[in-house]
Amino acid sequence: MTPPAPSLVALRTDPPRFSIDEAVGLARALFGVEGDARLLYGERDQNFHIRPASGDGIVLKIVSAAEGAAAIDYQTETLTHLLRTDPGVPVPRVVPTRDATPYGWTNDAAGTAYLVRAVGYQPGQPLEGAAAGHTLLRDIGRMLARLDRALGGLAAPPHAAPLVWDPRSAVSLRHFTNLIPSAERRRMVERIIDRFADLLPSYSGLRHQTIHNDGHAGNLLIDGSARAVAGILDFGDMIHGPLAFELAVPAAEIDGDGLGPLDSAAELLTGYSAILPLDAGEIAAFYQAILVRHALNITIQAWRTAHDPTGAAKLDGTVAHAVAALDTLLSLDEAKSLALLADAGQPIQERRRRRLGPGLELSYQRPVHFGRGEGAVLYDLEGRGYIDCYNNVPSVGHGNKIVADAIGRQMAEICSNTRYLHHTVLDYADRLTRTLPDGLETCLFVNSGSEANDAAWRIVKAVTGHTGMLVMSNAYHGITDAVATLSPYYGARIEPIAPHVKALEAPDLYRGRIRGDDPAAAVSYAAAADVAIAELIQSGHGVGGFLFDTGFVSNGILDVPAGYVAAVVEKVRAAGGLIIADEVQAGFGRTGDTLWGFQRYGIIPDLVTLGKPMANGHPVGAVVTRPALLDRFTDRVEFFSTFGGNPVSAAAALATLDIIERDGLRAHALVTGEFFRNGIKKLAQYHPAIGDVRGSGLLIGVDVVTDRHSRGPDPATARLLVNRLRDRHVLIGIDGPHGNVLKIRPPLPITQDQVGRALDALRSALESLQT
Ligand SMILES: Cc1ncc(COP(=O)(O)O)c(C=O)c1O
Repeated sequence: MTPPAPSLVALRTDPPRFSIDEAVGLARALFGVEGDARLLYGERDQNFHIRPASGDGIVLKIVSAAEGAAAIDYQTETLTHLLRTDPGVPVPRVVPTRDATPYGWTNDAAGTAYLVRAVGYQPGQPLEGAAAGHTLLRDIGRMLARLDRALGGLAAPPHAAPLVWDPRSAVSLRHFTNLIPSAERRRMVERIIDRFADLLPSYSGLRHQTIHNDGHAGNLLIDGSARAVAGILDFGDMIHGPLAFELAVPAAEIDGDGLGPLDSAAELLTGYSAILPLDAGEIAAFYQAILVRHALNITIQAWRTAHDPTGAAKLDGTVAHAVAALDTLLSLDEAKSLALLADAGQPIQERRRRRLGPGLELSYQRPVHFGRGEGAVLYDLEGRGYIDCYNNVPSVGHGNKIVADAIGRQMAEICSNTRYLHHTVLDYADRLTRTLPDGLETCLFVNSGSEANDAAWRIVKAVTGHTGMLVMSNAYHGITDAVATLSPYYGARIEPIAPHVKALEAPDLYRGRIRGDDPAAAVSYAAAADVAIAELIQSGHGVGGFLFDTGFVSNGILDVPAGYVAAVVEKVRAAGGLIIADEVQAGFGRTGDTLWGFQRYGIIPDLVTLGKPMANGHPVGAVVTRPALLDRFTDRVEFFSTFGGNPVSAAAALATLDIIERDGLRAHALVTGEFFRNGIKKLAQYHPAIGDVRGSGLLIGVDVVTDRHSRGPDPATARLLVNRLRDRHVLIGIDGPHGNVLKIRPPLPITQDQVGRALDALRSALESLQT
């Protein structure tokens, strides 16, 4: 059955013709807004920006006489509904008249009555004429998906006749294709429309709802960064139809910066699917709707050339664009195009599983998709802020502009390697070693904590000639084959713990063999090292050294007994071993009292390994050691890391260290961490699930227990808490040998106010356990 013909009269672009002065008078009389007027573009309505002395002002809309009041009522209802349902979608707000009605009336000189309405002026740059990069295209997709999610419950718009710009109208516009002057274009358009007509009945099974249907560049505003949508305008072409049609308008009409039409469509779809995933049938319909939108543009241009020359002139560019886009799209294999769109439209979790493998762990039962961060706050794609109490890598704060600028500047200048002379890596090495005890003055730069530990381990073996190593039980030191062997942490290795590795019993004063402030604890726990050393000597490995995480993080963020570390260090040294302090977790001021974790134990290690927080997220790692030790290693092997110590990484690390020192972040971590811990201890008075609160500075462990008497670890409750905190927009993690210790280690600049809000969320999450 052929759908009824849309009224093409509506295409005539002859908006009302009121003067600027009349607009100023109408704004004053009807809406009580005093300001000058500027004419804005309007296809059917005449639009003025009324600019008062302060504020953004209003858009005064003198509605085409062809438009019925029912359609205007529907738009008012829609905008009000959107503002209520998702205020984050940037649509104009309806401005009522002075009489509190949604619109007023006026007459022109000929006595024709016109409906006059007003909406708030939406600040932002028009997208038209700007190039849309990947980020912006995805944001357009996301915003339109949010819009559609909010439009979901609305009734169909009250159009008297089908809308010309409804893709389904293409079927009845088919008889205007004879107006297309080029026979070749005409055949192309007819083929597209005929195919669409055949497919249309099958679309009745797709999700239908009210959609905006007009997300072209003229109706979208962007923010100053040109990366995000700042406004969605024009609700005059809404239809009730397949949800899959929504993206066809921007996909057909917005040019991606340096992207072809299919890749632009894929970017839009990726953004859209993050909020509202489309299924395979919908993606196929989306693709057809893109072709049809182009076909509509070409056909309508032909009609306008014949009937409405003013409107036709405006469409010239659109048609050239439509023809070029169709040439490209139709030259591609359709099955491959659909496969590419299907990939882009997969929910991101699906894509992640497929492309990164199913084994890669994802945080939280309801995973979060972040778009940006600032300080200690991460923002999801819908702009909701989450207080980040988990990520220690962005140590000087997410989105830190100083570090970003340092990276950008250096990258634009030169990024080479350490085989050429360059001062940046030396500047950084000077600064870094100044923070360490005398003697620790030579740096070997790598790209991660794992590599740093791997290199340190090689140095230890080369220097001592021994292959045995002491580590803590449940320690985690990284992913290389050698370092995984030094990581008894569950899941780090495939093989059972190797004979050359001895894992020391954790000196856990809360749940261990000796508890509380028993003065015998340090000596008794350290005695485990005697046994391990004896075994290594006996097995012929000898004692290469002792590698330990100075925050004891994977042991559950332990407060180890005073004297314990020093006692183990002494024993290892007596057996000819070297000490590697792994500062990947605790270094760079996190523990507040000292810049380096090992300083808290009164020892000086032989090697210090660094990573994670070193360059605020830029991948940098290092081993710092005594020159003689490094020499004995590099005498035998050439050690060169292509990226290690490159000027960009060095600049990033230097900027990070600068900020830590300049902003006094170590002292800040001490005070803020204390405030955080005290807050949790107060909550513990009412919540028996909190068995113990440990750590130093902004490295905090909360031991979650079944009951305080047995101190039984309660990993299930810990997981519940982490997920409920996530629902309350606070991010933390879990660690410890039983998976029951809440791990809290926020970016160092976290404020007391943010900590206060995190504590409120923790209280609420704890209370939710009781219901
Ligand atoms: C104590 C410690 N050492 C080393 C590493 C490994 O660092 P990376 O993941 O940068 O290789 C980690 C990572 O979590 C760690 O916690």
